[in-house]
Amino acid sequence: MQLFLDTTDTAVLADLAKTGLVDGVTTNPTLIAKSGRPMLEVIKEIAGLVDGPVSAEAVATDAETMIKEGEKLAAIATNIVVKLPLTFEGLKAVQHFSANGIMTNVTLCFSANQALLAAKSGATFISPFVGRLDDHGAVGMDLIQEIRTVYDNYEFDTEILVASARTTDHVKTAALYGADCVTLPPQVFKDLVKHPLTDRGLEAFLADWAKTGQSIL
Ligand code: E4P
Repeated sequence: MQLFLDTTDTAVLADLAKTGLVDGVTTNPTLIAKSGRPMLEVIKEIAGLVDGPVSAEAVATDAETMIKEGEKLAAIATNIVVKLPLTFEGLKAVQHFSANGIMTNVTLCFSANQALLAAKSGATFISPFVGRLDDHGAVGMDLIQEIRTVYDNYEFDTEILVASARTTDHVKTAALYGADCVTLPPQVFKDLVKHPLTDRGLEAFLADWAKTGQSIL
């Protein structure tokens, strides 16, 4: 399963990319606003920090303008993925980019039917927002299981990119359900490596090792 970072903080991204475990990046207009930087500049910098897919979101609401915006974003770097909303206009733009070999990420997905339409349009990625579904009183991860079944039933290539993930449990369940990717806020990514028994065990091993007075090197 690919792990993406959901961030426009390039300092944090550069640091976490050193782990060798960041497979891509997602952004959205809220994260661009949070960066306080010009979108094209920050997307270019991010695309240079990771080799994998970097999602940059169009903000128009009609297909024609979305296509113009998407073409401009896709020209920034070869690893740019044009992110488009789950509307009929967004799906028209997805079909255009799919026909032209440009990667797309369909965002704001909240149902299996929406995911079906995105796959039929040729989307590279579908982004179901699990955390926002949880906030809404549903079980967000149930949607991942549903989409996995639909996509497998018809052998769609569209990759399931679990978005709006808020906890390490979302990541574990995404992996158990066979999601292709999950995008994470930096803190959740950092939390993936943590376990109190790992810390306690390492502390004990190092203390015992120190008692031996030995050195490996
Ligand atoms: C990523 O593609 C999404 O835009 C993001 O995960 C949304 O997360 P949020 O629901 O925490 O804003």
